[in-house]
Amino acid sequence: MVSSEQPAHDDPVLRDALRTVIDPELGDNIVDLGMVRSVTKDAGGEVLVSIALTVAGCPLRSQIERDAAARLSSIAGVSGVKIEIAAMDGEERAAVMKRARLKARERAPETAVPHDARVVAIASGKGGVGKSSVAVNLSVALARRGLRVGLLDADVWGFSVPRLIGIEGTIEAEGGKMLPIELTVGQGSVRVLSMGFLSGEEEAIMWRGLLLNRAVQQFLQDANWGDIEYLLVDLPPGTGDVQMGLARILPRSEMILVTTPPVAAQKVAARAADMARRGYLRVTGVVENMSEFTCDHGETYALFGSGGGERLALDLGVPFLGKIPLNPAVAAGGDRGEPVAMGSGPLAEVFAQLAEKIADEISPIVETTTCSARLIEQVEKAVLAGADTASAPI
Ligand SMILES: Nc1ncnc2c1ncn2[C@@H]1O[C@H](COP(=O)(O)OP(=O)(O)OP(=O)(O)O)[C@@H](O)[C@H]1O
Ligand SMILES: [Mg+2]
Repeated sequence: MVSSEQPAHDDPVLRDALRTVIDPELGDNIVDLGMVRSVTKDAGGEVLVSIALTVAGCPLRSQIERDAAARLSSIAGVSGVKIEIAAMDGEERAAVMKRARLKARERAPETAVPHDARVVAIASGKGGVGKSSVAVNLSVALARRGLRVGLLDADVWGFSVPRLIGIEGTIEAEGGKMLPIELTVGQGSVRVLSMGFLSGEEEAIMWRGLLLNRAVQQFLQDANWGDIEYLLVDLPPGTGDVQMGLARILPRSEMILVTTPPVAAQKVAARAADMARRGYLRVTGVVENMSEFTCDHGETYALFGSGGGERLALDLGVPFLGKIPLNPAVAAGGDRGEPVAMGSGPLAEVFAQLAEKIADEISPIVETTTCSARLIEQVEKAVLAGADTASAPI
């Protein structure tokens, strides 16, 4: 019988740590899904974890293994991690299906974001670390790769995206749906929605009234994003309702954490990990912003210290995606509404490399052809049909 209860010999700390490992398509962590059969540690700190997957040979296997190994090996006292993979039997699968069905019921209605668009939220534990600057420049860098990118300014009260990207305007509606304002970048484009496009105009007052409480949900559901391939979400600072809302509405969202170099990122790391756990969002990686400043003479100064980004990535057991130097040109570009990623030179190259890493090296969270995707599709269909999927064959 599958159970998320803890066997007597289990290590509770390790089991709890595995709650941050998400089966992205089932939208829940592997512990609560009952996929962790046991996790034990011997006297030498060697960890043995037994994980049961829904289907033998599931393509998500390597991702789950990787995430579990990274998470466990970042814990103090762990010297090595061995993972045993097994396939679930019929009874276990039925229990997972039941849980996934309940989850699917909770899921929000359809969004206007295409199913195959990758959703990447830019987050941080604290304010002012450069989330919006990273979100804007990364959107531009992805668009320069020829991609159609949506950019949602989810900082409803403190919006800054319109200024940073240099777009002024008012959102128009077509067929009752808001139309993002589009900026063509090379062969690609960035389509932007922000509360900044709703201020000041008389007709916007109606929208504002509608939007005040559920702005982000409406930006996701009552907008026409069209055929975007990426949606970047610039989150407000901290770990509040917006993050939770995003996790509920788009559980497949990935999160990139932006941090600054001081190693005092420990608390931020704990908050961020907690946010990921509660929201079931997978943290894709860490970006360090405001890193070493290089002056005109080529000298490099670590004004804010160094190592915070790598440390945070290590703590969370996720990839470190790169450093963005502290450079007044980033701020000046933002003030002028000409993101540095639009131009040429080393700073544009930094964002181009970040975009390349995210697009090419970090696997998208939803591979629609995988076993779990098929599984969840069946669950959703069954939920819509009102059937009991717990006993349905897979
Ligand atoms: N790499 C950088 N070099 C120099 N200045 C930067 C850099 N990144 C961001 N800034 C500047 O730092 C300030 C804060 O950046 P930004 O608004 O992007 O942060 P944020 O995390 O979105 O803030 P908030 O939490 O308020 O939303 C801005 O003035 C921005 O221009
Ligand atoms: Mg911001």
